[in-house]
Amino acid sequence: MKNLLITGGAGFIGSNAIDYFLTQHQNYTIINLDKLSYAASIDNMDSFLHHPRHIFVKGDITDSALVEKLFIEYEIEGVIHFAAESHVDNSINQPDIFIKTNVLGTFTLLEAARKYWTGSKKESRFHHISTDEVYGSLGEEGFFTEETPYAPNSPYSASKASSDHLVRSYHKTYGLNTVITNCSNNYGPHQHAEKLIPTIIRKALAGQSIPIYGNGKNVRDWLFVTDHCQAIDKVFHLASAGAHFNVGGNNELSNIDLALLICAKLNELCPSTSKGDYSALINYVTDRPGHDFRYAVSINKIELALGWKPETAFATGLMQTLTYYIHHFKQHNMLAETIGEV
Ligand SMILES: NC(=O)c1ccc[n+]([C@@H]2O[C@H](COP(=O)([O-])OP(=O)(O)OC[C@H]3O[C@@H](n4cnc5c(N)ncnc54)[C@H](O)[C@@H]3O)[C@@H](O)[C@H]2O)c1
Repeated sequence: MKNLLITGGAGFIGSNAIDYFLTQHQNYTIINLDKLSYAASIDNMDSFLHHPRHIFVKGDITDSALVEKLFIEYEIEGVIHFAAESHVDNSINQPDIFIKTNVLGTFTLLEAARKYWTGSKKESRFHHISTDEVYGSLGEEGFFTEETPYAPNSPYSASKASSDHLVRSYHKTYGLNTVITNCSNNYGPHQHAEKLIPTIIRKALAGQSIPIYGNGKNVRDWLFVTDHCQAIDKVFHLASAGAHFNVGGNNELSNIDLALLICAKLNELCPSTSKGDYSALINYVTDRPGHDFRYAVSINKIELALGWKPETAFATGLMQTLTYYIHHFKQHNMLAETIGEV
């Protein structure tokens, strides 16, 4: 039996990952440290909150006394670190919390891990979850590889890049058993309503204008969250210490094509007699400052080294995602609310 500390397990990817790890690995008990920020939801933990191998701890990753206590109390042998401030627009308006949580929070976890694991004969692994946004922006051609130099453009991506560098340094300097994965845009159930795909669905169903930044031509590479969990599983268990892998969906779409696709599916799933075609609600809005044009990730390294590639066809993943949000937004009466844009 092993105890894993997972941070951010009440958020989007963390909650999907806890569900996945509890199902796939019967020998793990998961200690889930989450401060329950605005982006978290108790509902995201519905399937595992009372699971006998899940322990929820409400707390902040910047609280070093708490983090150190958790390592000792639960004899932690592995960390998967998701907790972060994750919304680029918020980082433009209020960068300070991004530096605190993403940089200082990661530092606090690394320090606790170093203190607890140094000199110990216990197994250890520190898996840091990061983003392809650390690489900056691509033009029409090419892909980010693990060799692409870091060039973050938003306070969010700069804070993630900083945390990646700290993780790398703890491996190089102290020999901490770290791995880093940089993934592309995830989609699937449990994402906060402020993010792009939930926003398109929510605004369409509410009959409100669907905001699309700039000319809508910005391209993102969409990765289904369960495929991401499988990649994390492989890297966490099989990668060598200090390794660094990109994780992508092989699935590039411009924001406007994504919005049109979602509207077309909603026309089939929830036809609106009063509103007509949902795509009529699409409204181009002033572009995000420093908006990266294109992200696209090469997955050659993880495919060759660990045999991982995404399995979920976009049509399948999108249908699961739509079904979840249609139900979720109606159940929680969220179709009249104004929630942060895009
Ligand atoms: N969502 C994506 O498409 C995407 C893409 C690339 C990388 N990532 C990375 O994956 C990780 C998870 O992203 P997500 O989309 O699930 O984020 P999210 O915003 O949905 O969830 C983040 C979770 O972290 C918790 N949290 C925030 N600050 C905390 C703190 N100080 N202490 C403890 N808990 C705290 C929140 O309460 C929340 O439950 C992040 O590190 C993010 O940078 C996400």
